[in-house]
Amino acid sequence: MSAFRMGSWVSLLGFYWVLMELWSIGAACPASCSCSGTRIACVDQDPERSINAFPVLQSEIEMDNITDIYIANQSRFSSINDKDLHYYRNLTNLTVTNSRLTYVSRLAFQNNLRLQYLNLKDNNLSSLSWRIFRHLNISNLILSGNPLHCSCENMWMKLRLDEGVDPQDLKCIAEGGRRKPLSSLNLPHCVVPMATLNVSKVTELEGSDMKLTCNTSGAPSPELIWNMAPLVSYYKIETSGQVSELHLHNLSSLDNNCRISCSAENIVGQHESSVVLDIRFPPNISKLMDAYQDHHWCIPFSVSGNPKPELHWLLNDLPVTEGLYIFTKIHDFSDKEYHGCLQLDSPTHINNGPYTLLASNEHGRDQKTVYAHFMRDPFEGGTVTEPLYYDPTTEDTPIGPPDDRVAVYVVVGIAAVAFMGFLLMLVILKFGGNSKFGIKGASSVISNDDDSASPLHHVSNGSNTPSSSEIGPDAVIIGMTKIPVIENPQYFRSNNMLKSDTFVQHIKRHNIVLKRELGEGAFGKVFLAECYNLSPELDKILVAVKTLKEASENARKDFHREAELLTNLQHEHIVTFYGVCVESDPLIMVFEYMKHGDLNKFLRAHGPDSVMMGDGPTNRPVELTQSQMLHIAQQIAAGMVYLASQHFVHRDLATRNCLVGENLLVKIGDFGMSRDVYSTDYYRVSVGGHTMLPIRWMPPESIMYRKFTTESDVWSLGVVLWEIFTYGKQPWYQLSNNEVIECITQGRVLQRPRTCPKEVYDLMLGCWQREPHMRHHIKDIHTLLLNLAKASPVYLDILG
Ligand SMILES: *[C@@H]1O[C@H](CO)[C@@H](O)[C@H](O)[C@H]1NC(C)=O
Ligand SMILES: *[C@@H]1O[C@H](CO)[C@@H](O)[C@H](O)[C@H]1NC(C)=O
Ligand SMILES: *[C@@H]1O[C@H](CO)[C@@H](O)[C@H](O)[C@H]1NC(C)=O
Ligand SMILES: *[C@@H]1O[C@H](CO)[C@@H](O)[C@H](O)[C@H]1NC(C)=O
Ligand SMILES: *[C@@H]1O[C@H](CO)[C@@H](O)[C@H](O)[C@H]1NC(C)=O
Ligand SMILES: *[C@@H]1O[C@H](CO)[C@@H](O)[C@H](O)[C@H]1NC(C)=O
Ligand SMILES: *[C@@H]1O[C@H](CO)[C@@H](O)[C@H](O)[C@H]1NC(C)=O
Ligand SMILES: *[C@@H]1O[C@H](CO)[C@@H](O)[C@H](O)[C@H]1NC(C)=O
Ligand SMILES: *[C@@H]1O[C@H](CO)[C@@H](O)[C@H](O)[C@H]1NC(C)=O
Ligand SMILES: *[C@@H]1O[C@H](CO)[C@@H](O)[C@H](O)[C@H]1NC(C)=O
Repeated sequence: MSAFRMGSWVSLLGFYWVLMELWSIGAACPASCSCSGTRIACVDQDPERSINAFPVLQSEIEMDNITDIYIANQSRFSSINDKDLHYYRNLTNLTVTNSRLTYVSRLAFQNNLRLQYLNLKDNNLSSLSWRIFRHLNISNLILSGNPLHCSCENMWMKLRLDEGVDPQDLKCIAEGGRRKPLSSLNLPHCVVPMATLNVSKVTELEGSDMKLTCNTSGAPSPELIWNMAPLVSYYKIETSGQVSELHLHNLSSLDNNCRISCSAENIVGQHESSVVLDIRFPPNISKLMDAYQDHHWCIPFSVSGNPKPELHWLLNDLPVTEGLYIFTKIHDFSDKEYHGCLQLDSPTHINNGPYTLLASNEHGRDQKTVYAHFMRDPFEGGTVTEPLYYDPTTEDTPIGPPDDRVAVYVVVGIAAVAFMGFLLMLVILKFGGNSKFGIKGASSVISNDDDSASPLHHVSNGSNTPSSSEIGPDAVIIGMTKIPVIENPQYFRSNNMLKSDTFVQHIKRHNIVLKRELGEGAFGKVFLAECYNLSPELDKILVAVKTLKEASENARKDFHREAELLTNLQHEHIVTFYGVCVESDPLIMVFEYMKHGDLNKFLRAHGPDSVMMGDGPTNRPVELTQSQMLHIAQQIAAGMVYLASQHFVHRDLATRNCLVGENLLVKIGDFGMSRDVYSTDYYRVSVGGHTMLPIRWMPPESIMYRKFTTESDVWSLGVVLWEIFTYGKQPWYQLSNNEVIECITQGRVLQRPRTCPKEVYDLMLGCWQREPHMRHHIKDIHTLLLNLAKASPVYLDILG
């Protein structure tokens, strides 16, 4: 070893010495020894200071750390007694050499199960029993230089030498004092014992009888011992001479897998032979308990049986088909039983019911039933405590998970998407100059007798839009669609929310000059317009105006209510509502104009596939960066925090309903086109009405029970995040609406988008917890996104 190592070793030793001095009052480490952290060495040659007993340290903890004990040249050291090494549990190496060791107790190493290296060279040992080491796995045993006798007691050393375990030159003293090599030792009545069971495998039926015979040999005559764990079966042992019989009567299944061994032991050594009982018996289900929710749902059971029983489940007496979402899982085999679960991944109320476990093997069968309840059945007896957030005036039954009871169909097919896409491209080509979303169209003016601006009614007669009767008295329109507030009882039933003195700004018709049509929605056309005298600083500003086609009495009431509502929702990430113009038909609402249009289109235009929409390779828009995506997400979350603080449930949060302005400013709102352009995003329910639902954005409880809450908005926000990180892909685009409903109600969630960082996907998963109360809080989502966005600064100018 290097000088450095030696030096550090010495200083370490010194350090330990100091520590020892501090710790131990009195001589814990004998004077002739040195005690370091893991080693004790006693090598002082002064006979006066020789140890005469095994060194013992102050505390058990110290002794626990010792792995190495070295004793040499201790002239008064003669024995290792029962408890001397008791606390050196981690001892691996022991050397006692050149001392006067004469006696080693049979229990000396009882507690030193790690002992591997034992050097007892040059001592005064005349014999040593193999039994001292029977429980150990000694790899080096050095005994040379001892006055060993050529006795049967030392025969095991010869056998060990014969095996070549630790080659050394061992001699023994024969009668008459002559020394001879131990390897040539040959004693007439000194033979290692053997034990033989006449069977190697026992397979018996429960309740039967059997007999085992053990034949032993060896000299001196070995002691014959049967070893077994306490047996439940009745048994009797009959021994005569070297042969013993074990009679087992009425074998109990509880003794299955028991090991029975027969051992023979004498002074030379020991040998044993064993069998494992294989007792066959019919299944017994000892436990079938109530379902509990862990990571998944589990109906726990314990079942015994040999051979291993086959397990099948019945629900309401019908076989349960096991698959990806429901399957039997055995966790472990212990206490002679198989313990497992019927594991259910996100079960719903249709999974409620009596579960019967059938266990069978060739010897019989057993069954037990337990009632499992996972989720309240919303159809049962009107005990629903939470309101179903759906218009109570219609005879509408909430849809259940997809099954035959509910006839559902897709409204608009792929052809429509393609067609709309084509139209969209035409619009873009027509109006797109350098900027795809730039304003270049010819101006137009609202004409009172223009057919397209027919009498106000906020619902068209179009087949894929709701009719006003379905919307009910609470219907209000936000942005330009009816969805968000209409069925939001929280909002309308808490009176204080809607300030009675809300002042809706009125704008004069002559101050609005239409420039071009932006689109046509379910409720009327949307135009880009210039609005004069709206703000004191500016002469005119660009606005988006929404016209209402029809104006029935109801529609007018709705219109005013919506205007009041919008006036009250003011936030930097909610699209700004400027006011109304009700001087004449059509009625008009004036909104802030967001240059880049809806976020979904924007994402697609700035994604990898955007070359399709761009003006050619040279003008291809820059792909959004991750930090820009985070910036977008963060702004939507900010808007949602605000809506939640106003106890407002959006119900249709999606990128198509967000708008993008300059400098990547994003706001929540929409311009009423989304229903038409994005009709495949919605799912039409035929039961009791023609409600369109954005199921791909909806959590299970909204799909199944039409329950919309701030928590369901959080779910949708998770989907919005997914949309952002996929550059505007449709969630579950590869699946049909029916398949989507099945997936969501089964508990599947969208996969991590390729470009999505883990933190963001974790956030999505936090939004998609099945239990609404388990989902992230909207405020936390916003904070997290804000921090992530801050961590990667946005370079806005790329997008202008
Ligand atoms: C025992 O060893 C451990 C780690 O090897 C050490 O942290 C501890 O201080 C030692 N205890 C004593 C009493 O030496
Ligand atoms: C000593 O053995 C005990 C178990 O007996 C173990 O927990 C401990 O880690 C061991 N200490 C050292 C230093 O090996
Ligand atoms: C023990 O003493 C002998 C001589 O008496 C000496 O050669 C040997 O090095 C000593 N052993 C130790 C470990 O000090
Ligand atoms: C223990 O003995 C073995 C075998 O001789 C040796 O390799 C090892 O280094 C020793 N361990 C200690 C801590 O002395
Ligand atoms: C060696 O052991 C024998 C007994 O086995 C004893 O009579 C003798 O005194 C011992 N020799 C020494 C030097 O201790
Ligand atoms: C005994 O030790 C050896 C190596 O030292 C190891 O290979 C063997 O598995 C051990 N046996 C038992 C029963 O611990
Ligand atoms: C074992 O021996 C007993 C008699 O000693 C006999 O009855 C039994 O059938 C034997 N078992 C086998 C498997 O040979
Ligand atoms: C026991 O074994 C010996 C020799 O191995 C054999 O001679 C004897 O017949 C056996 N006895 C029984 C009962 O199997
Ligand atoms: C066997 O044991 C079982 C209980 O373990 C008992 O019910 C049965 O009566 C017993 N049969 C005989 C034949 O003793
Ligand atoms: C089945 O197991 C239960 C619980 O361990 C036990 O009470 C019952 O006796 C067993 N039934 C049979 C037929 O073994």
